[in-house]
Amino acid sequence: MKNLTVKYMGLALKNPIVAASSGLTSSLKGIKALEDSGVGAVVIKSLFEEEIIMETQDSMNRMQATGFIYPETMEYFDFDEIEDPVANYIKLISDAKREVNIPVIASINCVTAHKWPDFAKRIQEAGADALELNIFALPSDFNRTAEENEKLYFDIIERVTSLVSIPVAVKISHYNASLASFLKRLSETPIKSIVLFNRFYNPDIDINTLSFTAGNVLSSPSDLSMPLRWIAIMSERVSCDLAASTGIHDGNAVAKVLLAGASVVHVASTLYRNGLSRVGEMLKDLETWMDSMEYTTIDDFKGKMSQAKTFNPAAYERVQFMKYFNPHYSSNL
Ligand SMILES: Cc1cc2nc3c(=O)[nH]c(=O)nc-3n(C[C@H](O)[C@H](O)[C@H](O)COP(=O)(O)O)c2cc1C
Repeated sequence: MKNLTVKYMGLALKNPIVAASSGLTSSLKGIKALEDSGVGAVVIKSLFEEEIIMETQDSMNRMQATGFIYPETMEYFDFDEIEDPVANYIKLISDAKREVNIPVIASINCVTAHKWPDFAKRIQEAGADALELNIFALPSDFNRTAEENEKLYFDIIERVTSLVSIPVAVKISHYNASLASFLKRLSETPIKSIVLFNRFYNPDIDINTLSFTAGNVLSSPSDLSMPLRWIAIMSERVSCDLAASTGIHDGNAVAKVLLAGASVVHVASTLYRNGLSRVGEMLKDLETWMDSMEYTTIDDFKGKMSQAKTFNPAAYERVQFMKYFNPHYSSNL
């Protein structure tokens, strides 16, 4: 048996596999099943900023009628089932804390620093071990500069971290022109982790009906390269933990992002595709690999292949194909 324990945001986890915020973590039953599957921690499905703000207003229907809800919100929850989403969320945190022994991380999907941040205190009072802020507004507004888009993140972090003492993580997307600088500056705020990266609702077009459809909701293993690259580039250059999310489907992928410098992985798609027994398989494969490499703890290899440590730092920055599309090398294709 290997020692798979890790420290994440100051919390002690029995292993680095965290159940990512998703439908799988939206109920007590789901959270208990995930604990039974062996995960080291759970991130509860996000409560949306709009839900918190609307707690004081009439109803969700009114919110839909005014076009207030963001498209992503529409995709992620079923309005018919919701009676009082905020009260339900607080209850879910306290129920989960009472019923499971693994750390329980709450999550809020937010796009402004107004009106809702006081709610973070209620999350702390309900017993959450940490809070993840899922912040993202698509930078598609022609009238907003990059500085204005980034300011949103810093405003939210400043407000929330001034209100709570539990560790706060920020989950972001890769849509940022100066990603390395942005991540470094984020890590210099009081947050304890950055989760790279969130996965979004992606639009697709049905060319026969000329209608819009949802692109792949679940990731595939090839999506791993995006978090792998950025974890490796940022590892040891940020002042907080890094969590890898997107495209981690098996034990080898876990080993790769830990080698790149991640403290933990957040997984959802592989559990949707393969069932919760996947967690045990991933842990077993991780242990088998550690055994073959003669590693006994995660610290023995964490960050060993980060850009700062590797003998080949250019590997993570090479972005253009040269070899594969050059006729001289066509045998490689
Ligand atoms: C059905 C579904 C619902 C999700 N809901 C949320 C959510 O409420 N909040 C959040 O931060 N991420 C949410 N995510 C993103 C996941 O937490 C995770 O970061 C993403 O799916 C990438 O990991 P994966 O490749 O293992 O799926 C959701 C993902 C899926 C597939």
